[in-house]
Amino acid sequence: MTDFPTLSWPDTDGPRTVRWRSEAGVPAPKRVVIADDTTTADAAYRLACEGTALLWRGDFQNARQLLQAMARRAERKPKKGAPKPPATPLEAFHQHRQAQAQRARTLGMVLLPIEGDYEIALRRAPDAKLACEEAWGPSTGEPSAVSLRELLGLIGAHEWRKKGVPIPALGGAHVHPYYGVFSPVRGEYLDLIARVPLPSQEKAFDIGTGTGVIAAVLAARGVKQVVATDQDARALACARENLDRLGYGERVEVVEADLFPAGRAPLVVCNPPWVPARPASPIEYAVFDPDSRMLRGFLGGLKDHLEPGGEGWLILSDFAEHLGLRTREALVEMIVEAGLEVAGREDIRPRHPKASDPTDPLYRARAAEMTSLWRLKVRKD
Ligand SMILES: C[S@@+](CC[C@H](N)C(=O)[O-])C[C@H]1O[C@@H](n2cnc3c(N)ncnc32)[C@H](O)[C@@H]1O
Repeated sequence: MTDFPTLSWPDTDGPRTVRWRSEAGVPAPKRVVIADDTTTADAAYRLACEGTALLWRGDFQNARQLLQAMARRAERKPKKGAPKPPATPLEAFHQHRQAQAQRARTLGMVLLPIEGDYEIALRRAPDAKLACEEAWGPSTGEPSAVSLRELLGLIGAHEWRKKGVPIPALGGAHVHPYYGVFSPVRGEYLDLIARVPLPSQEKAFDIGTGTGVIAAVLAARGVKQVVATDQDARALACARENLDRLGYGERVEVVEADLFPAGRAPLVVCNPPWVPARPASPIEYAVFDPDSRMLRGFLGGLKDHLEPGGEGWLILSDFAEHLGLRTREALVEMIVEAGLEVAGREDIRPRHPKASDPTDPLYRARAAEMTSLWRLKVRKD
């Protein structure tokens, strides 16, 4: 008996079964055929659309090209039966997510065998051992299979982790995101955290720290003691490494907690995921907050974790409002229901390239988006 999912296929020398890896928890495909350099993109795309996976046995670089060719086919607009153009931003959002899910399903059908030591035994394959180790932990010796698309994601994440993301609010110092940890590539909210006057320099909490970047900005501003929390093991390890590397390891304590650490602080900061929708995979929990769980939890707990006169800083973009997924009134109501009041708000426009790309399906909402730092205080009734 194994305690992990498996993938089976009829190989040339008999049936084979190996461990199946999918970060998103996608079940192992039931129908698997062997594919190689002779497989055409049309045939591969047709099989993938029908739900048949292709276990690749050819040249690695050819597999990449095949995947690109399949992606171009997935991009093509159907001649007949094209969906009606969305009438509202909310419809556009749902259509976009559906299309993304369909695309992920189809392109996830090209599979690679991975050896027990994470070697990819294919011609012209890269050495992805470190990337696999960073995402999956040390190899345990058993062979496995993963989709090529997922493996390319791991390799991309490894490169980001190596290179790091420059943070203007830290004077250009880099943070190095781990695979699966929210990457602060959209740094505008950090500029807000760097410029809004601090209510105190004694102590702060950073709730849901991810890479540790907000804790680092607070420490760089002279906050003497920061407690940073997260629930995700990769985030906790990532934050600890970044904070040590940046020289704040002594002043920032990284702890595993569901939202708040014990005690109170004069400043409690949180950047919850901005979109109240169901994540399609665990990795999307950094972007999607189902039923605004983290947002409500943060607002609801602030009263019990702020020192008298302290401030809660909520970082939130209004993207969800432009999509019709949340109203401003509902947000304000959540704040009031939590016994809080708004002491001030600082806004900043996103700088990311999609905001100025009219071909992006969510362009209307992206172009109108504003990111805010809400300064919240406990209401004195
Ligand atoms: C949008 S990311 C923000 C990360 C980081 N603070 C930043 O601004 O780059 C939200 C983070 O909250 C963490 N998180 C989600 N739910 C949590 C909870 N209940 N308690 C602690 N952390 C949580 C996630 O693991 C993720 O790292």
